[in-house]
Amino acid sequence: MIEWTPALSTGNELLDEQHKAIFRWLAELDSAAAQERTLFGAYAITRLKNYTRSHFAAEEALLKATGYPGLEEHMAEHETFRARLAELHLKSIGEDISADTVKFLTDWLTNHIARSDMAYAPYLKKPR
Ligand code: FEO
Repeated sequence: MIEWTPALSTGNELLDEQHKAIFRWLAELDSAAAQERTLFGAYAITRLKNYTRSHFAAEEALLKATGYPGLEEHMAEHETFRARLAELHLKSIGEDISADTVKFLTDWLTNHIARSDMAYAPYLKKPR
């Protein structure tokens, strides 16, 4: 089952809510892939692409405002994912979303939140 868990909490309410929404779109994508619902799959991956884009922008703005020292590296990870997701989105126009695609996206986002997003969590809590 694809869902956000408290173990992935960064302690920042806004970012956690955005991460939860990302997992909801991953679950929708998974459901569309399992049921071979082509149009819904294309819709879900479009929403996931747009949502992650706006989440990354919000997260990067917050990290920039707090002077997070790992910002450049973090932004590079986001860019790598954005490019890969754009390719998969394009591919979804011609064929159904595969289980491998859903697994790749879920694994990438889970690992990114668990490691890279967690790395900034203590920093956001620091008094400035
Ligand atoms: Fe929450 Fe770095 O993405």
